[in-house]
Amino acid sequence: MQTTNNQQNWVEVGRIEDIPLLGARLVKSPKGDIAVFRTQGDEIFALRDKCPHKGGPLSQGIVHGKKVACPLHDWKIHLDTGLAVAPDEGCAARFPVEVRDGLIYLSLEPDSGR
Ligand code: FES
Repeated sequence: MQTTNNQQNWVEVGRIEDIPLLGARLVKSPKGDIAVFRTQGDEIFALRDKCPHKGGPLSQGIVHGKKVACPLHDWKIHLDTGLAVAPDEGCAARFPVEVRDGLIYLSLEPDSGR
């Protein structure tokens, strides 16, 4: 993991191809584990690797559309907001993520949730 020079708090976490389609990659950060997801359409999202239900590892879930199913009790979490799909309630922290030239950059500062 390398910090880029021009933007503090953004780290490069590898190439988009490093993450399997409909899968996730776990990024360890000093502020906790972050799950970086890849959708079928090659969109990338990042959430805290902690289900808002009972803390299940979202990085081990399966991506469907723009949601991930938690491996523990199958809650569905919206990748773009971190919110649980109703009727479940809760929110996983969302982290800004960008893809530039096939490389994924992740901000370690969450922009929503816990
Ligand atoms: S911990 Fe994720 S659904 Fe229960």
